[in-house]
Amino acid sequence: MASLTVRQLDEALKQQLRLRAARNGRSVEDEVRNILRDAAAEMEAPPPARAGKGQAPPHRPEPPANRVLLIIAGGIAAYKALDLIRRLKERGIAVRCILTKAAEHFVTPLSAGALVGERVFTDLFDPKSEFDVGHIRLARETDLIVVAPATADLMAKLAGGHADDLATAALLATSAKVLLAPAMNPHMWANKATQRNVARLAADGFALVGPNEGEMAEAGERGRGRMAEPLEIAAAVEKLLGANRAQPLKGRRVLVTSGPTHEPIDPVRYIANRSSGKQGHAIAAAAAHAGADVTLVSGPVILPDPPGVKTVHVESARDMLAAVEASLPVDIGIFAAAVADWRVAGEARQKIKKSPGAATPELSLVENPDILSTIAHRKAQRPGLVIGFAAETENVIAHAREKLAKKGCDWILANDVSPETGIMGGDMNTIELVRATGIESWPPQSKEEVAAMLIDRIAQQLATE
Ligand code: C5P
Repeated sequence: MASLTVRQLDEALKQQLRLRAARNGRSVEDEVRNILRDAAAEMEAPPPARAGKGQAPPHRPEPPANRVLLIIAGGIAAYKALDLIRRLKERGIAVRCILTKAAEHFVTPLSAGALVGERVFTDLFDPKSEFDVGHIRLARETDLIVVAPATADLMAKLAGGHADDLATAALLATSAKVLLAPAMNPHMWANKATQRNVARLAADGFALVGPNEGEMAEAGERGRGRMAEPLEIAAAVEKLLGANRAQPLKGRRVLVTSGPTHEPIDPVRYIANRSSGKQGHAIAAAAAHAGADVTLVSGPVILPDPPGVKTVHVESARDMLAAVEASLPVDIGIFAAAVADWRVAGEARQKIKKSPGAATPELSLVENPDILSTIAHRKAQRPGLVIGFAAETENVIAHAREKLAKKGCDWILANDVSPETGIMGGDMNTIELVRATGIESWPPQSKEEVAAMLIDRIAQQLATE
């Protein structure tokens, strides 16, 4: 298929596209996609009915994405704002960006612009920007303004109502909610002037996320002042935008297991598997995004805890079962963990020593409890919907069907984890959803997309009850 990049278009057309995208609060790329989608829909629409024979169905444009204006102020944490742009865009949020003069010492308009997908705004007195969009439109054409990092200086200006640059002018001119993610040295944060300004801003209705406690960029400095992590800020953004969003799992309790288990041999050695926990964690995050009250029981993984999710960390299969049982009752149980089928019988209390002439130790294994099956067969407090996974290397569907019956669960998400698929530990997944009513083959997609699709199917199921 032929490919065409926006960069190849002539200047006049590009300028028109930029203006149109700015007007609609989208990136140029998204604007082009929308134009093409509308054109395709028109081509497919039935020809207009003749007079007297009824009307052609009205063309319904897609609802616009939520829009965020991200203001990056000048602090060392500005580099994390670039990751925040990615996180917001991943969530389908249209992002526009203002860089303060000080921020340009830490990140460039080019790098921020590349991630946003359009130019970033820097200057209150730039005639081109003011003609194109202008600070008043930047302030108005957004559902939320996020300031990350929010420096002590910018918050002082904001508390005092100053408007001497593009960022503060937009902040003063907006009627949208503003979320501040403060970041500064712990002494600056603790300073009475900063605390007075923060209290003033909170009283004025500004929302705050962080700062967190921990290591600072300056060598040896520790304390409160680290900017909240991009995922935390993205979760706070989603919460603030949440009022506009449908939350199909609101009021539902969801339990998710994720990751591998570690089965100890002795205090320093264990048996494990290659599960990364990416799929289970993505499901927990997607359920929380859909408004559910989520408990994630996770084996040892290197992933951060998903924001807005209660995460319980466990090591072994037996610990996992205990944590799962402790989190009941729930409405929906999703068992994505790769639980070890066996554990070592008689785990050694001390490190097993290698000594010359001694026999090689032999491990004997005993079967672990099957968590999915235990929960699915419970008489009391069985979740209304129990969903398992079946990771297979052959005869995927046949094995999944057997598992559905044997384990007593309602749905199975089956996937082929042969090494050549790269699914185990990778970012992509290809699922067959096996239910009593039939099989649905999903296309290869990211684990986040699989999670969103599963949540969508759960929401459909709940809607029929
Ligand atoms: O039997 P198999 O390991 O293929 O089954 C996979 C499904 O069962 C997954 O949903 C997994 O989380 C669950 N399982 C479990 N406890 C075990 C073994 C598997 O919950 N001990």
